Amino acid sequence: MSRIPLPYNPKVMDLFRNPKNLGKMDDATVVAVAGNPACGDMITFYLKIDEEKQVIMKAQFESYGCAANIATSSIVTEMVKGLTLEKAWEDITWKKVTEEIGGLPSVKFHCGVLAVGALKRAIRQYFTQKNVGGPSWIPAEHTFEEKQALEEEELAKTLSKRLKIEEEKKAEK
Ligand code: FES
Repeated sequence: MSRIPLPYNPKVMDLFRNPKNLGKMDDATVVAVAGNPACGDMITFYLKIDEEKQVIMKAQFESYGCAANIATSSIVTEMVKGLTLEKAWEDITWKKVTEEIGGLPSVKFHCGVLAVGALKRAIRQYFTQKNVGGPSWIPAEHTFEEKQALEEEELAKTLSKRLKIEEEKKAEK
């Protein structure tokens, strides 16, 4: 079965072909792995943080996702560079990232949500691993993007549950 290519704009295609800040970061301050329940794809997001100033010095990612995910992750790594953790938390939303990239087909919005969710999980993780308690600007309840970017284990559980339901449906037919 042949697939109709999605109408990605040139900016998305360019970042997909030439992503910025792609690859493992060996000296990362914090690493977050997140997966999307909609498609089962995963991303690893790395942040190098100036801990005194609470500023993101660099960000990198590894993606096992689609073109939209690679392009949005790439642009997130550029948008957060030089921002304080608080500003990155507040300013970087999936809507803003989607705008910045010139738009995405609506069936691909979740791919950008995954990129931002991984960033937010990494910021939350930073404070969790320091064991200092989160600052007041991080809500106790996970944000929409974090909820859509599940941790590896949660994702595996969600996917295996979905697989089981599909198998049961098939068996009923
Ligand atoms: S389809 Fe899974 S990240 Fe895009």
